[in-house]
Amino acid sequence: MKNRMIAIFVFLLISVSLAGMAMSKEMKVFAPNVDIKTGAISVPDDYTRWATLGTWAHANTEGEPGSHEYHVVYTQPETIDYYQKHGSFPDGAVLVKELLKAETMQMTTGPAVSHATTLKGWFVLVRDTKGRYKDSALWGDGWGWSLFNAPDSKKTVSTDYQVDCIACHLPARDLAREDAHEEDKWIYTLGYPVLQNK
Ligand code: HEC
Repeated sequence: MKNRMIAIFVFLLISVSLAGMAMSKEMKVFAPNVDIKTGAISVPDDYTRWATLGTWAHANTEGEPGSHEYHVVYTQPETIDYYQKHGSFPDGAVLVKELLKAETMQMTTGPAVSHATTLKGWFVLVRDTKGRYKDSALWGDGWGWSLFNAPDSKKTVSTDYQVDCIACHLPARDLAREDAHEEDKWIYTLGYPVLQNK
């Protein structure tokens, strides 16, 4: 009898801790910059320690040569590992696009060398393979979509991804790999060489 009680107790203990582990895994597994309950998105605190996927240089179209703006895109190193292995973005992948002003000057390396100056804001995308926040206008088509003006990295200024984002990401679908996951086709993957060697 005593042994049976102990066995039941041990069984319960293991079940409870397994359930706890599964729950904390679910909490941890999704993105670090998303409030799991509300779906509120912020700019991840430590994203500059992540890997750079690539940079888009916006050239001056009149006047002096050089760039007037850079868009630098960051993601978690494990997102790159996953993409290289599976050819798709994993649930919880975060893409942060920094908008930086740029200036151009003559340097010892060349006559028109541009460098980044001030940070204007961030566009943030979070991959959601489970359709978690159906009632939010910031979530849909497989992603969470959010815009932030510097320096406030917590306050989303966009209100509806279908109005604020989608039209401009439509051309990405034609540029994407034909065999890419449908929801990954919203991403301008052609600009990220590290994702090409999958
Ligand atoms: C004016 C058109 C335009 C709008 C509006 C726009 N995007 Fe983009 N987005 C682009 C283009 C083009 C790129 C890649 C080239 C660049 O940044 O210059 C891009 C790249 C990105 C990237 C880097 C990943 C990728 O797809 O390559 C993120 C993140 C992003 N956009 C998020 C958003 C979010 C979130 C919104 C809405 C709040 C949004 N964008 C609205 C045109 C746009």
